[in-house]
Amino acid sequence: MQLARTVEELRAWRRGAPPTLGFVPTMGALHEGHLDLVRFARSQNAAVVASIFVNPLQFGAGEDLARYPRDLEGDREKLAATGVDLLFAPETNEIYPEGFSTTIDVGSVAEGFEGALRPGHFRGVATVVGKLLHLVAPQRLYVGQKDAQQSAVLRRLVRDLAFDCTVSIVPTVRETDGLAMSSRNVYLDERERRAAPSLHRTLRRFVELMQAGRSVDLARTEASAVLEAPGELDYLACVDAESFAPLAALRANAFAIAAAHFGRTRLLDNLWFPQ
Ligand code: PAF
Repeated sequence: MQLARTVEELRAWRRGAPPTLGFVPTMGALHEGHLDLVRFARSQNAAVVASIFVNPLQFGAGEDLARYPRDLEGDREKLAATGVDLLFAPETNEIYPEGFSTTIDVGSVAEGFEGALRPGHFRGVATVVGKLLHLVAPQRLYVGQKDAQQSAVLRRLVRDLAFDCTVSIVPTVRETDGLAMSSRNVYLDERERRAAPSLHRTLRRFVELMQAGRSVDLARTEASAVLEAPGELDYLACVDAESFAPLAALRANAFAIAAAHFGRTRLLDNLWFPQ
């Protein structure tokens, strides 16, 4: 696996790259969910590029930018063993040189739910992924289903700005107790970690109740009781998979989405109802 630390090194590699490229953007602290993205990319492309960049633009004031887990050496080994051809791991000033001021807003898909709770977050995500797509120019982009709204934002970005690539949404990888894998799970203390899988059970109950004919509001109230302390629900909803507009009932091409905080750690989960 080759390592590029600068835009110039990435461009030099890109000039001689194989014809089909899969791209997996990450912020590092890699777990099985990330490695699954790489495996999907490996199986569908002649070469795979992964990036590791803890993107300051997508963290709000008071969020965990400074303490976000970082392990470049460990991550390099995992990516090399999983079949990545090029790792792009730039310093902040390579992506945001002095005076950088161009950002990307994707509109209403980024405004509700995570967008409302984390103002500016999706502007940061769309801007960095837009820049990375421009530099890597892959045929396929791989993102995890766990961050459902992010996947909708990135599909919109690719469509609206006509990036010449498809977006593949790869199913969430879970711990054996159902907790969705996330780099932020390491923040959970013992009690929070024990309660955390109840977020997934809450979501499943929410869906069961809607499938049994309850309205979204009634299903939300009843399913909320499944979440274990110290978890506190931020939202439990049903949304259109493309626009992320709230839905009054579950239907095809929708996500049931949930977010809760356990102490200072926010966890997300969802169930996808494709076409
Ligand atoms: O999901 C993430 O790790 C990040 O939001 C991403 C897509 C790598 C952009 O920084």
